[in-house]
Amino acid sequence: MKQLLPAEIVLMKKAGEITKNALLYAETLIQPGVTTNSLDKLISEYIISHGGKPSFKNYQGYPKSTCISINEVVVHGIPSERILKEGDIVSVDVGVEYKGFNGDAARTFPVGKISEEKQKLIDVTKQSFFEGIKNLKAGEKLGKMSSAIQKFVENNGFSVVREMTGHGIGAKMHMNPSVPNYGNENDGPIVQANTCLAIEPMVNMGTRKIFILEDGWTTITQDLQPSAHYENTVLILENEIEILTL
Ligand code: MF3
Ligand code: CO
Repeated sequence: MKQLLPAEIVLMKKAGEITKNALLYAETLIQPGVTTNSLDKLISEYIISHGGKPSFKNYQGYPKSTCISINEVVVHGIPSERILKEGDIVSVDVGVEYKGFNGDAARTFPVGKISEEKQKLIDVTKQSFFEGIKNLKAGEKLGKMSSAIQKFVENNGFSVVREMTGHGIGAKMHMNPSVPNYGNENDGPIVQANTCLAIEPMVNMGTRKIFILEDGWTTITQDLQPSAHYENTVLILENEIEILTL
């Protein structure tokens, strides 16, 4: 885990701010009838016009600037001509590079009026992030946070995806350590001050099991029940933590 210099932290904050604002902008665009391609294009233009670079574009061959994942799609939905419809839930995941540093964040939004169960899934997923970071502290085991996320999700009757995790973030989008959303509180590395983590619970209504489609990206639930995602880039300092994308 490479520790960030003060000047690098300034750039991480700026990358985080553009990421946060891109998601606030995305939220204003979500409504029945829009295609995920149109969202991708507008969000990409927003990032570029605010001095950032959409970091997902061409990342390991990824074809678009954002990931937009509807209903049973857990993560890495590829924007397309698919149209959002009333009752869908849609996860928008955005990555921004700014002067060599990275922000990464995701939200799940309702499209029009959604079922109570889907709203609970969105709420529990978001709250699990906050339960997690209550247990995130420099000098302590990362597993304390991971286990808090898992407990909160499972106590609410949902399941946590295992195969995909959060990650360290900084000069690259994906860095060490891996940040699981499950596990034992005594596991994992010691959390280091002056580092950033992207913490991103992926929560399924039914089975935690996932399946990756032929395109190599689109990740769906095996039982086709809905899934939600909530992610922020977080800065860990000696005595406090700061959420850079909120
Ligand atoms: N936000 C995703 C993550 O945290 C990255 C999307 S994969 C990409 O891992 F290829 F689209 F970049
Ligand atoms: Co991420």
